[in-house]
Parts: sequence; structure tokens; C-alpha cells
Amino acid sequence: MKGAKLVQLAVAAGLTSLTFSATAADSVKVGFMLPYSGTYAALATAIENGFKQYVEEQGGKLGGLNVEYARVDDESAPAKATDNINKLINRDKVDVVIGTVHSGVAMAMAKVAKDTNTLMIDPNAGADAVTGPMCAPNIFRSSFSNWQPAYGMGVVAAEKGYKTAVTITWDYAAGKESVNGFKEAFTKAGGKIEKDLTLPFPRVEFQALLTEIASIKPDIVYTFFAGGGAVKFVKDYAAAGLKESIPLVGAGFLTDGTLQAQGESAQGLLTTLHYADGLNTARDNAFRLGYAKAYKMQPDVYAVQGYDAAQMLAIGLAASKGEKSRQDELIAAIEKATIDSPRGAFTLSKSHNPVQDIYLRQVQGESNTVQSVAVKALADPGRGCRM
Ligand code: PHB
Repeated sequence: MKGAKLVQLAVAAGLTSLTFSATAADSVKVGFMLPYSGTYAALATAIENGFKQYVEEQGGKLGGLNVEYARVDDESAPAKATDNINKLINRDKVDVVIGTVHSGVAMAMAKVAKDTNTLMIDPNAGADAVTGPMCAPNIFRSSFSNWQPAYGMGVVAAEKGYKTAVTITWDYAAGKESVNGFKEAFTKAGGKIEKDLTLPFPRVEFQALLTEIASIKPDIVYTFFAGGGAVKFVKDYAAAGLKESIPLVGAGFLTDGTLQAQGESAQGLLTTLHYADGLNTARDNAFRLGYAKAYKMQPDVYAVQGYDAAQMLAIGLAASKGEKSRQDELIAAIEKATIDSPRGAFTLSKSHNPVQDIYLRQVQGESNTVQSVAVKALADPGRGCRM
């Protein structure tokens, strides 16, 4: 993508109608910006694994181009995010940034991506703003908005007849937006939120909050935790003796990629997510087999999102032939694509977020076994997106 650098310079210089003859590119440079350390480290690995699995399935190419990689550990640190994405863009000269997991980091990335017209595919972070007020033609998401799985659980909880809930999460964008999505559906159906409890990301001192839950005695507890924090929360909830008396529900990150570590404490938990184990489609079975062979472990939702980020990029590159001067064609191709995801085929909303089924799953052994489709083809409302 040699033309890429020229156009980036042109954009930086405020030149929009520059013409140049782009040489046909023979490779694409992909920059992973992911949290390779900290509470979300396992998620980063799964995303990168899934992405590379798809590339390997295409003989090491995407859209006919060879693939080179660069990576930076973003540490789930929003304060370092602008510097980190600029390293990929300016030092490593990547053509596309794949990132990230943490919503606060993703929002800082989206600003830089928009300002520099760098193609960005978000393979996890659900920050509603990324496909809301911050939306841009060159920013796509292969995952979900924080609103989506949470809204699904609000629908399910109301259907099950629960009337009161306490919410508990980390005090940052993903937690807050997840709680809001749950609330929107739950209160619309007549449910009442007794209390919202939070603690700073990525802290895991849950004891005082669990004591408070025990004294409020809501019908259910709704939660957003993920990665290492989710492992600890589910264990502590069970150890506090709450699991049998007050059902714990959540966005499916609570039990995805975590079940081996959670063991008995997670058994029977109900969660909602855009992926589940046991879908038993030919597409998912082939994906799972390939992942298990390549990485000697089972895939999770993060692996699927990485895999689909690669699929989306491949579709765009095939249309643009990897020439940055044809970025409009790349964007149009992804916008109109149906992505053949292991989760089930999906399309993108106008704001570039997957329109997808939200599954109800139950933990059985080391599996988040699909129970039903909680909400069919759920589209994030994309509030505030103008494009
Ligand atoms: C987020 O910060 O948006 C986030 C992090 C981890 C997840 C899901 C969402 O598993």
C-alpha cells in the first residue's frame, strides 16, 4: 500500500484533491493495538490468534495481498492511547490499525484514526461513541456496541419475571454503557433498578459491594466484568454465598474465555452475547476446529471478533486492490458485505457496527451453551452518528 503514505501526507497537509499514480500494492501492513498485559491480556491474544487464523486460511494473504504485522501493548491505558496509536501510524507506517479491547482506549484511538484518515477496525471495545458520535467512514467494528448484549439481557430478565435488580461493574465507559443498555430494556418492561454499584477499573476488591448486595436482596444482579476481573468476580460472588439466593446475570464477557479458571463458581450462569458455544453450524464448527488445531485451545468470542476483523479487511482490500487511492471502494465494499462469521452471518449498520443476533447462553461445564436467540438481528441505534 505505497499510496497510503502519500495520501496520509496529503491529508495531513490539508490537500484533498491531490492526484498521484498509486503503484499496485503487494502487501498490507496491519498494526495490532491490544492490551497484551493486564486484566485483558488473554483477550488480546485471542483476537490476534483469530485474525491470524483467517489470514492463514487464505494462504497468508488478505484480499490477495501479503500481510506484515506490527504491534503495540496498549496496557488498557487510555492516557497512553494517543501516543500508542501514533507509534503504529508514524513509526511503523501501518495501513490499518486493529484495536482495541478497552473502551476508553478505543475512543482515543478513534479520534486519531479519524483525524489522520487511518483505517481502523475495532475487534472488541464496545464504546457506544465509536459507532455513535465518533463514527467515521474509515472506522469499522467487528464486535458489538456495549449497548447490544446488555439490552438483550434486559429483555431476558424481564421475560423471566424479575422485578428488581442491582447492577455492579467497573466505573468506565464499557461498564456504564453496559449497565445503561440493560436498564433501558429492563425498565421499559417495568423492572426497577435498586442500586448501581461500581469500583474503579481494573480493581477487584469486591467484598464490601457483595455485602451491600446481600443487604439489598434484589431479584437479580446484572454485571459487566471481563477477563481476569470476571474470573475473580464470579468466584467471589459464589464464595459469598450469593449465587443460590440472588441469580447473577450479565453480558456474556462474564463467562467467555474464563470458564476453566472459574470452575464450579460459574456453573449454571445465564448471560447474553453475540456468540455462544454449541451453535453447531458448519461455519462455526470449521472455525472452531481450525482454531483448536492451530492454538491448542478453544476459541471464544474474542477469537471470533479477531477472525471477523480479518474477513472485513480482506473484503475491503479485494475491492480496492490495496491502493489507498481507492479507499472509497474499500469502504463501500465492507459497508455492503455480509460477513460470514462463525457467530452467524452479519451485516453492518449505517454507523459500521454489526447487526447481529444476541444469544442467551448458560454455563455448562466449560461451555457457554446456547439456549435461544434472545433478540434477533439487534442493531445498535447508533445515536449521534452523522455520516
Ligand atoms: C470494553 O472496554 O469495551 C470491553 C472490554 C472487555 C470486554 C468487553 C468490552 O470483554
